[in-house]
Amino acid sequence: MNKHEAPINLAVLHTGTRHDSGPKHVTGTAEYIDDMIEPVGTMHAYLGLSTRAHAEIVSMDFSAVRAAPGVIGVLTAEDIPGENDVSPSHKHDEPIFAVGKVQFWGQPVFAVIAETRDAARRAAQLAKIDYADLDWIADVRAAQAAGGRLVTEPLKLERGQVEAGLAAAPRRLQGAIAIGGQDHFYLEGQIAMAVPGEDEDVVIHSSTQHPSEVQLMVAAVLGIRHNAVTVNVRRMGGGFGGKETQGNLFAAVAALAAKKWNRACKIRPDRDDDMQSTGKRHDFVVDYDVGYDESGKILAVDAVYGTRAGFSSDLSGPVSDRALFHADNAYFYPAVRVRSEPLYTNTVSNTAFRGFGGPQGMMGAERWIEDIAYALGKDPLDIRKANFYGTDKDNVTPYHQVVEDNIVHRVVDELEASSDYQARRKAIIDFNKTSTVVKKGIALTPVKFGISFTATWYNQAGALVHVYKDGSIHLSHGGTEMGQGLYIKVAQVVADAFGVNLDNIKIMPTSTGKVPNTSATAASSGSDLNGMAAWDACEQIKARLLAHAAKLYQAEESDCHWVQGGMTIGREFVPFAELCASAYLNRVQLSAAGFYKTPKIHWDRATGKGHPFYYFAYGASVSEVSVDTLTGEYNVDRVDILHDVGKSLNPAIDIGQIEGGFIQGMGWLTSEELVWDDKGQLRTHAPSTYKIPLASDVPPVFNVKLAEWSVNREPTIGRSKAVGEPPFMLAISVVEALGMAVASVADYRVAPRLDTPVTPERVLMGVERMKREARG
Ligand code: MTE
Ligand code: MOS
Repeated sequence: MNKHEAPINLAVLHTGTRHDSGPKHVTGTAEYIDDMIEPVGTMHAYLGLSTRAHAEIVSMDFSAVRAAPGVIGVLTAEDIPGENDVSPSHKHDEPIFAVGKVQFWGQPVFAVIAETRDAARRAAQLAKIDYADLDWIADVRAAQAAGGRLVTEPLKLERGQVEAGLAAAPRRLQGAIAIGGQDHFYLEGQIAMAVPGEDEDVVIHSSTQHPSEVQLMVAAVLGIRHNAVTVNVRRMGGGFGGKETQGNLFAAVAALAAKKWNRACKIRPDRDDDMQSTGKRHDFVVDYDVGYDESGKILAVDAVYGTRAGFSSDLSGPVSDRALFHADNAYFYPAVRVRSEPLYTNTVSNTAFRGFGGPQGMMGAERWIEDIAYALGKDPLDIRKANFYGTDKDNVTPYHQVVEDNIVHRVVDELEASSDYQARRKAIIDFNKTSTVVKKGIALTPVKFGISFTATWYNQAGALVHVYKDGSIHLSHGGTEMGQGLYIKVAQVVADAFGVNLDNIKIMPTSTGKVPNTSATAASSGSDLNGMAAWDACEQIKARLLAHAAKLYQAEESDCHWVQGGMTIGREFVPFAELCASAYLNRVQLSAAGFYKTPKIHWDRATGKGHPFYYFAYGASVSEVSVDTLTGEYNVDRVDILHDVGKSLNPAIDIGQIEGGFIQGMGWLTSEELVWDDKGQLRTHAPSTYKIPLASDVPPVFNVKLAEWSVNREPTIGRSKAVGEPPFMLAISVVEALGMAVASVADYRVAPRLDTPVTPERVLMGVERMKREARG
């Protein structure tokens, strides 16, 4: 073997290979857009943001801005040659720069272009804008009270006789839960750099999960064709859904300036502006009416999901749809009617965030399960088990898809045993009887999450694989890397397909010039889609190489076999590099474009029926907490998780996704609180006021395990399952554990009904309410 040949490395797939960028992340050599060498003469843009929630713009005066040192110019809506819109929806309701009126506090009105970022930032403060205030709508309840202007036709999912079911139910409960939003708090904020080229050409380096959308947005804004715009993404420093659409505006502003002045332009807002001007997770208010029987079995559910969309539609339609798709979580409702209500408000336009509405939908389901348990004086886990989807009956969802791959019983039973749930719950109830100040709680909650984009056409992907004469491989696909480990997983697929070592593969930055018309890397589907597309490309090249080898060695194709490191032809072993070199000399094409589309799925929104998900991912968690009932402060003492990723492509990456997803979910449900003041300004726009979990908030006991026996029954790549989003929702057990600790104050007679985030303040108010209940 010569030195270019990889040593034998069996089973590269399904092994815990480290993240390709891991060493670069920790040594600071991973290149982000702000690290890139700037072309000579690069300009810097900074946004001027509105300081009103809803107002007419009476006048704008930029003379002081233009006169400031280092300023090159100002961009407003008038400087846009094409469309002043970066909305991902067909409504075209998201201007880059406000025209005539502003619709939320923090909305971009103009941009300053200057020689340095500092000069642009300082100059942006000097604009004089006069406003005439208009009435404004803050949140879901305010929007409902004002008549509720909707972003889209509401979705309705309905099955069975809801009215009759509710009326006939021996027991019934009504309630509402308010579920807070969440800032993405990606470590790398929004950023784009545009480099002008010949003719209409422009190259955009964008921190985006959706390069193809940035491409078409920039083209529309500049009034040019898609083929003039190339978007490149090496990696993001976190996206979490916050860069599915929110990068569009920044890329568009950079491109506008770059083409206007024929110089490169970079734009990077500071953290406060990023938090005030970009969309977040939607907060919801779910109003519910549930009928059930004495055993705790749910008979009928009727619920409305009020959703704060913000000033524009963005992805609020699809997000509120996905909330409805998870209004069941893992539970069978004999009769059900759930309706979405995504409402326009005068706040930042909310967007995708890990789970995409699913977490909010599940919070509703877990809330009425909890309510039923407290009403009946039972362990909520017993109510959960009584309502799980069946395996051969009681398995039809509110959207009429049959759940065919249900493993929730096994996951929950195994976790209940391994976490010692029953004994610990008993011990906690005993502890609470005698402990006066500190109260404990424990809860086990399940997750069932549907995998596929509900926009069916999104479920496609492309890849481009080149094999060079020395056997080294160049891998491109449409997925983007945001830390989740997609690049290494797809590289593992390719290494496995060719039987070569991973270091034979060069992972290329994502580029619209390599793979066209891609979908956002989202809906957790990155490895499912791009892994299969890359595998398809490899199979094409392998078929050509096989035919070539048979010809060259005058053998039957059936005598040629792929083995680790190359091919055997009869009794001869030909190393991969040698095979590639001879294929080239014999004019065999060593490059292929792969393609994949998810089978089986279909969805009709008008009727609310279909098979929108290819399969489901399952998981469960147990959280234990202790609460100081004098202050409301609490600790999460122990968490146990059992999660299903099918046959894992990379157990190390998957465990990381589960741990990270859980902690991010815990932040959403506990400490991360968005507060708007009475003028509509977001007051929590920096880490000083917005508390994300710290490393020190990781529970001291944190047992995370994969359900190693699980294999995807569908032929996904390596029989794996998607992992990016589902673990986020495992954090719901923290809310319920806190609820139990609070409810212990009134001897568990009253349902805790804590709104989220369950901040120490809310815990304390809950405890005070329980004290009043205990006194009668
Ligand atoms: N993990 C890291 N480290 N950083 C991220 O930004 N985004 C999440 C999840 N895990 C994210 C992450 C979200 S919202 C999604 S949809 C998936 O990763 C997207 O990647 P995948 O489809 O390759 O799993
Ligand atoms: Mo993830 S919210 O689908 O980007």
